[in-house]
Amino acid sequence: MLNVTHKTPEIILALDVDKREQAEKILQATGNKLKWVKVGLQSYLRDGPDLVRTIADSGKKVFLDLKLHDIPNTMAKAMESLSTLPIGMLTLHAHAGEEALKRCAQTGKDILPETLLLAVTVLTSMDQNALSSIGVKSPVIEQVERLARVATQSEIGGIVCSPHELVHLRACLPCKTKMVTPGIRPAGSAVGDQKRIMTPTQAKQAGADYLVIGRPILAAENPSGALDAILEEMQS
Ligand code: C5P
Repeated sequence: MLNVTHKTPEIILALDVDKREQAEKILQATGNKLKWVKVGLQSYLRDGPDLVRTIADSGKKVFLDLKLHDIPNTMAKAMESLSTLPIGMLTLHAHAGEEALKRCAQTGKDILPETLLLAVTVLTSMDQNALSSIGVKSPVIEQVERLARVATQSEIGGIVCSPHELVHLRACLPCKTKMVTPGIRPAGSAVGDQKRIMTPTQAKQAGADYLVIGRPILAAENPSGALDAILEEMQS
């Protein structure tokens, strides 16, 4: 039997909380255990660039998950508006298409050279039915592959997908492509609106570079303990 050992993926905490004070409390409690924090629409629209700067000043890397999806010019100009922020990763929707993604890749090289651009494929909250209901009749895996290929051919450096698609995508994308996977649920934690899920260990074995985890940590009575349990699970 082939025994493949994967390196332990980095955990990115999705800081989706109702108040800035909650964000600060969780960041203090988790301390140096986390290198990456994801600021998504909920927190960014409330706390803005100041939250991004505060997190970066505390020594962590910021993944700004704005999932830009618009016409090419608007996406590129939105990136220009972010150019003074310390952002380690930034998301774009692959559905924006090749012209937009190429333009964003070039804009990234020009003004955000330290930022890894990630193309979101099919959201992990969508299953086959949800995809069909918006007119996409091909299997989820084919749609994810199609979007991931458009993104990498447009020189976008990373892909956001579910851990279920990792093995398939590794075989068809350039090996330098970074794979970031939400839809992570430790055994026994509430699934919520996520559909294409795996446990942290399963996602590690499938070859994820980064795991995005929100509610399983945020909703725990002891978020720092929940993070420890995930880290231990992946090491064992
Ligand atoms: O709480 P949970 O672990 O489900 O959080 C997942 C995070 O990842 C959320 O912030 C969500 O916006 C984000 N995300 C996702 N699926 C994608 C892309 C991003 O769940 N395809």
